[in-house]
Amino acid sequence: MAKKQKLKIRDRYINIIKRTNPWMVLRFLVITIACFPVWIWVVLFSYLHSLRWRQPKIGLDLMKRHSLAFSNLVKEGQPLPAPKVTVLSGGISNLSLLWEINDAQGNVHEYFVKVFLPLGTFWAWICPIVSPFPDVYAKLSHERMSMDVVLRTHLAEHGAHVARLVAFDPVKKVMVTEFLKGQMVDQLLGEVDKSGELSELAKTVVQQCGAGLAKAHQAGVCLVDAQPANCMWVPDQEKVYFLDLEFSSRWDHRVWDMGFFMCYMKARVPGPLGKTLRKLFLDSYEAENPVDWAGIAETDKLLKEYVPVFQCILALREFTAEELFEEFLT
Ligand SMILES: Nc1ncnc2c1ncn2[C@@H]1O[C@H](COP(=O)(O)OP(=O)(O)O)[C@@H](O)[C@H]1O
Ligand SMILES: [Mg+2]
Repeated sequence: MAKKQKLKIRDRYINIIKRTNPWMVLRFLVITIACFPVWIWVVLFSYLHSLRWRQPKIGLDLMKRHSLAFSNLVKEGQPLPAPKVTVLSGGISNLSLLWEINDAQGNVHEYFVKVFLPLGTFWAWICPIVSPFPDVYAKLSHERMSMDVVLRTHLAEHGAHVARLVAFDPVKKVMVTEFLKGQMVDQLLGEVDKSGELSELAKTVVQQCGAGLAKAHQAGVCLVDAQPANCMWVPDQEKVYFLDLEFSSRWDHRVWDMGFFMCYMKARVPGPLGKTLRKLFLDSYEAENPVDWAGIAETDKLLKEYVPVFQCILALREFTAEELFEEFLT
């Protein structure tokens, strides 16, 4: 990672901390110090685990164990080819990989691979303690993966836009899905904030986020980690996909989902432009599902002081887990 970017993240953090309620900074500091030994082990273990999954051979072993899921890549009796592995940024809980595999005809097949890490378990445990984030029932890596896999299938059956499941390994805690090509909604919102203009594309995307969330709720699923950084706009299909389902649940967190999503929108696009976006989001949700206005106002009040914290998290997302680890070491 370029030094310039490292400095940028430090400067940004100092600015954000200056704007945060001092009591909250103190609270986070005390909790960080108290959890330090656990934190060190979790980060170290997750880092070493990540290094292992970067090896094409480890990926190939997984493919062999689930060979029928990849049978489209080879002719009968031929060996499976090893994937080319690329680490993706955007996640701060798990390892996200792109696998590129050449088939016998020379076509390239792409897969998204998520290795569920102890870091994600740590977030599932700590977030409800330090913030109004709802209690996460399925915390451990294999539990989060199970929730993702099962509710992904359920959502797909109910017409929600989620990446198609290709394979999953409950022993290794790894899930493989189709690789989607598009732009993260959070990135798109960042462009709106920079330009100060609300493009037709941004409007469509935010409206689809509202309608998509309503669809998930109609299917009886709450996403819990519902935020623009977990949604992707896929231009070829003109659809918004919900990517990250590990915290999703069948508990009723509908108001939370909406409040949380809008708070992240506020963190990315503050001011009147953000207000317009939030209205678009709510209107398109309401076109599908009734809105609990009082509940949303309450969640908004609860989350107001967390906006700078969300801005910190958004800044972290620009790095891969390994880059963050290196940053942490320096
Ligand atoms: N199906 C997919 N196709 C392409 N990229 C994806 C897909 N799913 C996730 N990603 C990318 O990986 C990043 C992290 O994925 P996510 O499931 O949100 O992991 P985490 O649990 O670590 O937040 C996303 O921000 C996105 O850039
Ligand atoms: Mg995510």
